[in-house]
Amino acid sequence: MHQQYSELPNQPTPSAMQTAITRLFGIQHPLLCPGMSYIATPELVAAVSNAGGLGILATGPLNAEQTRSAIRRIRELTDKPFGIGCTLMMPGAADNAQVALEERAPVINYSLGKGDWIAKAAHAYGGKVLATVVTEKHAKSAEKCGADALLVTGHEAAAHGGSVTSLVLTPAIRRASALPIVAAGGFADGAGLIAALALGADAVAMGSRLAMTRESPVHAATKEMVLQRGAADTLYSKNFDGLWCRMMDTPASRRACRKPLGLLPAAFRASQMARRMGMPVMKVAIGGMLSQPQALRQLALFGAATESIRLAIQEGNHEKGVQLIGQAQGLIDDVPSVAELFARVMADAQACRARIASL
Ligand SMILES: Cc1cc2nc3c(=O)[nH]c(=O)nc-3n(C[C@H](O)[C@H](O)[C@H](O)COP(=O)(O)O)c2cc1C
Repeated sequence: MHQQYSELPNQPTPSAMQTAITRLFGIQHPLLCPGMSYIATPELVAAVSNAGGLGILATGPLNAEQTRSAIRRIRELTDKPFGIGCTLMMPGAADNAQVALEERAPVINYSLGKGDWIAKAAHAYGGKVLATVVTEKHAKSAEKCGADALLVTGHEAAAHGGSVTSLVLTPAIRRASALPIVAAGGFADGAGLIAALALGADAVAMGSRLAMTRESPVHAATKEMVLQRGAADTLYSKNFDGLWCRMMDTPASRRACRKPLGLLPAAFRASQMARRMGMPVMKVAIGGMLSQPQALRQLALFGAATESIRLAIQEGNHEKGVQLIGQAQGLIDDVPSVAELFARVMADAQACRARIASL
């Protein structure tokens, strides 16, 4: 049975910690799993939602048909609210967002683009919209576009965190916007959750931490590498996929970041990727070339990076593969189930709150 957003509970489910985000999305804990290509699959999304958080499906490597099947699969695995992530700059992302709207996804999370049309259509059926932002300017613009909440991604984050750390970015955006905030970038435990709430957030999204759970499809060899690395063992570079991006520090990622990938090799690798994803290569390429050559360049770089990301995650290949990971890898030393992790985070958060109250 499909759960329509209008069926989401108006009454918060019982939890020791209700916030503007748990009330908005109808979830039990202020904990989200952000979109992560090849990782935030229907299985992980459903595990997060079933454990009382909000799982967000990554649609970056999916075409429209695959996105529809993935949404239906999530609904087979959970009757709880979930989200669909759309990186609007990626090829096919607008089509995937359209599918999410047609399927009446409870929450749509958009990033790297303008989501006013998504907010309008989602609100028509009672859906909620979460906009990913990395600056105060983005936050104000997302508010104007009709977003219901902000996912604020700080510098510590895996992949495309902003230039400002979560410690400063979260309160800066709290001052700039009245919307509920999900803080992301560097959050992996109960103390992090309490810190985020103290900074003005209403929940945290944990990417690196949830990629290191039993339900996450990350290859065992890659999980082992994360366990062995510390907080400083990441690179932050614009040369990997054309945007500032954080990844695990390995010989392969150093090679990938040495200099920007040329347009021709990027376009070649992107076309291979588009074919693999069943996307109309010529439509994407010619449409992009005629309208926005700069955007085409970015698309080519994203497409080229996607295969390296897949190799590290699905095949544990670190000769050619590059693993996106945040500084929070230094806080991760086990691979629990999602439910075990959430129970621990919430218990530690309560203990942390009590310790501070006793000072
Ligand atoms: C392994 C991994 C893969 C990711 N893939 C993507 C992606 O494909 N697109 C994207 O916008 N963000 C991606 N992210 C970033 C997350 O959406 C989120 O912003 C980030 O993980 C939050 O910071 P944290 O890792 O410190 O929790 C990825 C993160 C991880 C850990």
